[in-house]
Amino acid sequence: MQIIFYHPTFDGEYWLRLLSDALPGANVRVWAPGDDAPADYALVWRPPVEMLKGRALKGVFSLGAGVDAILNKLKAHPEMLAAHIPLLRLEDTGMGLQMREYAVSQVLHWFRRFDDYQALKQQAKWQELDEYHREDFTIGILGAGVLGSQVAESLRQWGFPLRSWSRSRKTIPGVTSYAGKDEMGDFLRGTRVLINLLPNTAETAGIINLSLLNQLADNSYVMNIARGAHVVESELLQALESGKVKAAMLDVFHQEPLPAENPLWAHPRVAITPHVAAVTRPDEAIAWIARTIGQIERGEAVSGLVDRERGY
Ligand code: NAP
Ligand code: GLV
Repeated sequence: MQIIFYHPTFDGEYWLRLLSDALPGANVRVWAPGDDAPADYALVWRPPVEMLKGRALKGVFSLGAGVDAILNKLKAHPEMLAAHIPLLRLEDTGMGLQMREYAVSQVLHWFRRFDDYQALKQQAKWQELDEYHREDFTIGILGAGVLGSQVAESLRQWGFPLRSWSRSRKTIPGVTSYAGKDEMGDFLRGTRVLINLLPNTAETAGIINLSLLNQLADNSYVMNIARGAHVVESELLQALESGKVKAAMLDVFHQEPLPAENPLWAHPRVAITPHVAAVTRPDEAIAWIARTIGQIERGEAVSGLVDRERGY
């Protein structure tokens, strides 16, 4: 079995070692321009067109949970990957735990008003603020898939009212499920903390805009840990200025790295992390990929298949 690997920033040699251990008998190589030797599987992140073009692959694995970059490239270069070749993405592989940590720690930070106390500290002000109450702190999660459902489960332990919005109806204990465009208004009404864990698709790009933000509760909080394309940044800034949105925690941006001149950097009520909400964990990702390749080889059903039409 021949496997080709491409990632613009990962340490290829390290991944090759782990992959060879997990897939004894497989011949794994880092793909480089000009390599058109046969391959059965490709493991990729932002692959060049020529890496995949014309190959009779049994499967292409995204080395992350999102497949928007590869699907967007496919739109411009449909010849990159024949429609019948399965495209798979990482499901969880350690990202669920990281998303739980990120979301819970930030929600508690806002709920306990640490941001307000930090602002008072800047003025050397010793002042007790009114407590926030859980019943006024409804958390709405956009996306209730592999990651959104885990975030909901973790926040439930803290007793917050929870709701989710997805394409199909969900039955997550303790979480009110809203589904589809028709139920978006009800989902937003009364939501105080909005957490985004949608995939970036034609339907979801730009979804966090002024019209959506204005439907949230007053003094709301926004956490974007999915993709920068979901947020209309200028409109989020407007909502922060109007006071509709009290604060935002952003991990992902239209342009990454976020340019120094972007006004989000300087905004006192915007917190920023550099697309690290959940990173790919090599051990868990490789175990998952090796297991899935085994299932494909045995003709068994697999999980993580991307529906190219749907976009995720
Ligand atoms: P997933 O399992 O595919 O879940 C996606 C969820 O979004 C599903 O619940 C889906 O609804 C819902 N959805 C999709 N399109 C929708 C639409 N048009 N209307 C309503 N709901 C819609 O994906 P995941 O593994 O949880 O990952 C989510 C995203 O997180 C990834 O695509 C990636 O972009 C992002 N991510 C970011 C980082 C980071 O470090 N910042 C790390 C990992 C992942 P259904 O369940 O009904 O299909
Ligand atoms: C990271 O952003 C991923 O999609 O895995």
